[in-house]
Amino acid sequence: MNIRRAEAADLLNILKCNLHNLPENYPMRFWTYSALIWPEISFLAENEDGKVVGYVLCSIERAEKFPHQWVGHINSLSVLRPYRRMGLARQLMDMAKDALIRGTILIEYIQLHVRKSNRAALSLYRDKLGYKHHRLEAKYYGDGEDAYSMRLPVTYMKHPQTWVAVSYHYVTDNTLQLARRAVAQLRRKLAKG
Ligand SMILES: CC(C)(COP(=O)(O)OP(=O)(O)OC[C@H]1O[C@@H](n2cnc3c(N)ncnc32)[C@H](O)[C@@H]1OP(=O)(O)O)[C@@H](O)C(=O)NCCC(=O)NCCS
Repeated sequence: MNIRRAEAADLLNILKCNLHNLPENYPMRFWTYSALIWPEISFLAENEDGKVVGYVLCSIERAEKFPHQWVGHINSLSVLRPYRRMGLARQLMDMAKDALIRGTILIEYIQLHVRKSNRAALSLYRDKLGYKHHRLEAKYYGDGEDAYSMRLPVTYMKHPQTWVAVSYHYVTDNTLQLARRAVAQLRRKLAKG
């Protein structure tokens, strides 16, 4: 088993894994956007044949109520059934957390949503990884199920100068150009089949 950073080229295989495991299937542009803008914070597990058997897809967004703050998001996590209870999700989540915390953007906390009925994921997040219940979001999912919004607080020393540098670093013209070029390349690749 190999766990490594997920790249844009892995997206179709990650999508296959997502379709097997979860009813929440985001459009391709969402996955592409995440992988291109934050290539260093999403991870996948692949078996000996190179098949993607698990992944965690993350992003960094501005906090809803405090836009000067940044928040790490776990957007999607899943592991194929035959590979469950082997510690893969935990490893993927640990690697994502490390990458989110060590990145150039200082985040306040890591946030995720989980179905009220998802006992496996709740146990993982709450009992094993230390996420705390933040609030219940009624009818969060498309089928009407409620979600728990959960958070893992992140604490580190913030140096005022670093904070400014980080804020400006976030969206430079260069970043946007790189992202646009990569999206165009991916589109061409997908069109070719
Ligand atoms: C939730 C999920 C990602 C866990 O993946 P996994 O690789 O099997 O998890 P791990 O082996 O790392 O398990 C870590 C902990 O999670 C909890 N856990 C995992 N599966 C569980 C289950 N079926 N029942 C209860 N607790 C479970 C346990 O606390 C476990 O620790 P333990 O093995 O020491 O008891 C996986 O079941 C899955 O892909 N489910 C479908 C998709 C999904 O629900 N994603 C989360 C959306 S929020």
